[in-house]
Amino acid sequence: ASIDDDNGAAAPIVVASNRGPVSYRRGADGGLVAGRGGGGLVSGLSSIEREAKAVWVCAALGEGDREAARAAGRRLDPEDTGGHRVRMLDIPPGTFAAAYNGIANSVLWFVHHMLYQTPLEPVFDKAFREQWAAYEAYNAAFADAVAEEAAQGAAVLVQDYHLALVPGLLRARRPDLRIGHFSHTPWAPPDYFRMLPDDVAGQLLRGVLGGDRAAFLTSRWAEAFAACCADVLGAEVVRDGEGRAAEVRCEGRVTRLGVHGLGADGDFLRERAHRADVEERMAALRSQIGGPDRRTIVRVDRTELSKNIVRGLHAYRRLLEEHPQWRGRVVHIAFAYPSRQDLAVYRDYTAEVERVAREINSAFGTEGWEPVALHVKDDFARSLAAYRLADVALVNPIRDGMNLVAKEVPVVSDHGCALVLSREAGAAAELGDEAILVNPYDVEATARALHFALLMDPGERAERTKRLAAAATALPPARWFTDQLRAL
Ligand code: G6P
Repeated sequence: ASIDDDNGAAAPIVVASNRGPVSYRRGADGGLVAGRGGGGLVSGLSSIEREAKAVWVCAALGEGDREAARAAGRRLDPEDTGGHRVRMLDIPPGTFAAAYNGIANSVLWFVHHMLYQTPLEPVFDKAFREQWAAYEAYNAAFADAVAEEAAQGAAVLVQDYHLALVPGLLRARRPDLRIGHFSHTPWAPPDYFRMLPDDVAGQLLRGVLGGDRAAFLTSRWAEAFAACCADVLGAEVVRDGEGRAAEVRCEGRVTRLGVHGLGADGDFLRERAHRADVEERMAALRSQIGGPDRRTIVRVDRTELSKNIVRGLHAYRRLLEEHPQWRGRVVHIAFAYPSRQDLAVYRDYTAEVERVAREINSAFGTEGWEPVALHVKDDFARSLAAYRLADVALVNPIRDGMNLVAKEVPVVSDHGCALVLSREAGAAAELGDEAILVNPYDVEATARALHFALLMDPGERAERTKRLAAAATALPPARWFTDQLRAL
């Protein structure tokens, strides 16, 4: 049964992403329970696609999803998905794991965030080739499903590095469609991108160029993509009046480039941050901080190598060493939420974060003062509580497509919060004037920035926070989405 009369009809808009707007798990009574899918992408897209009669094509991520997908037939019932029209692909588990963990998370994520460490990595061996074949099959499954769902001339918005081949594959199946690809990550510069095997590098670029538009979070990532196309494929890059890469011409096709800097959803965040559950968590955090005179340095991340949490902790340690006046007077609230725990490198990194936090606590902690309060259990209400309380926010990724934490903190901050921000985060392009920018590798400079941030005059801090919030909400998720549709 369906509450949506034309649930089976071809759609004028199709969104394709690995992670969809809904996920399923087995409840205590044995039935399937639907939950909201995680990640910034979901908040970016969910606002609009419901009304627009869009269909969202995504992958079944776990056993619960697989069962739901199998039981549903072609599309899940909107009644079970929070109103979304969702086609969830039941890709064979081995293929999915090789494409998602093997290629997307271990290769493409590492390339675009420049995380490889020689002499051990990268290694493109026989196992890599098997995973690459799985990535191709997984992308082909998406292209097939989108080709089935899309109405004549529909607009298709393909998301992220998981689906880089989809625009090209889809163009071959359905030349009538308007196809856009959006990268939520950085794009690697050519010297780094060329580490990939030549044929793979070429396939990835040609895949994205199969669309009418390729869009990015900042002009820096768009320029890097254009440079890779020129370098690897010999493509021609056409520039606009201001010298920005505007089009890539390659092998008889023209792909327009776009930049859409996804902002924070100010209305949603302000309302959400004042609900009772957030107030409760503020009280709990205050008692953990202990004492109204103590300052707080807050960070909130998924525990990923690119987030640079360990160097952030070392910087905090250096702050306590160099400036003993902060001992007993500051608490570092660090939320490091689990991510991609199927991968050993992520599990090891999580253990390292915990180890360094413990080390700092045992080196500096006293009877009534715990220098680092590390929490690893994901809790959005508690994140908002910490944003509201924070005197300083530390956002120091090695590289980041945008980083929404940097944009969310100033929006909900109660009394103004100084932002220490990596210059390698996409958000630095928009927030750089008001944030304290740091080189994420430079632990000494980060420690100095923390000291400076703690000392910032409260009036100046509040003024800067106001300007940060305005910049952070300049392009709210709903407009980010409609701008892309219009441009397509
Ligand atoms: C981050 C990135 C997105 C990416 C997502 C995938 O949020 O910014 O570009 O799509 O991670 O995360 P997942 O948990 O699905 O692997």
